[in-house]
Amino acid sequence: MLPEVVFVLGAPGAGKGTQCSHISKEYDFVHLSAGDLLREERQRPGSEYGEMIEEKIRNGEIVPVEVTCSLIHKAMQKSGKSRFLIDGFPRNKDNLDGWDRVMSDKTKLLFVLFFECSRDICTERCLGRGAAGSGRSDDNLESLQKRFNTYINDTMPIINHYDRLGLVKRINAESVPEEVFQDVKKVFDGAGLQRIAN
Ligand code: C5P
Ligand code: MG
Repeated sequence: MLPEVVFVLGAPGAGKGTQCSHISKEYDFVHLSAGDLLREERQRPGSEYGEMIEEKIRNGEIVPVEVTCSLIHKAMQKSGKSRFLIDGFPRNKDNLDGWDRVMSDKTKLLFVLFFECSRDICTERCLGRGAAGSGRSDDNLESLQKRFNTYINDTMPIINHYDRLGLVKRINAESVPEEVFQDVKKVFDGAGLQRIAN
């Protein structure tokens, strides 16, 4: 059986990571955050991409897909599992085309989970996260403005593309995480995905 994939998209601060961590506790999915994988690669001693990744992240720009896709692919293989939440990917056309070239034959895309949240709420959350010591070089107003531009110009067309294919599951992500997760569960249960027995 092909590994199964759910893409998780939404504006910066929409709660993708928070919801993915809930999902991976209740359903048999491995959470792979493209942003986390890139931040890890940036820190890896001897990485030839470290500086490029840092510059892209600070400017809210998207790293070339060859780098991101290979990090995702390696993490999938390393996990030894067969169901994945891929959080923050594909973020632009380069991501989408790169995935389609290399990975779409090797995986089955179940659906795209799309967290909808207003810019004001998202900004507030990211600034709060920065103030609470996220240590992220992009949780500041200047980077956030750039991240939002990238989201509107580059990521929304990808969401629209999947929407035309009937693959998008929309979730209102403006309330507290526990409430948002109730709606997320409906989507996973509705797709026939089994909860982890405990
Ligand atoms: O998803 P997250 O907010 O952690 O992403 C942080 C940054 O990582 C993005 O703003 C972008 O610079 C980089 N990124 C990327 N390609 C992706 C996901 C994240 O370049 N697919
Ligand atoms: Mg995240």
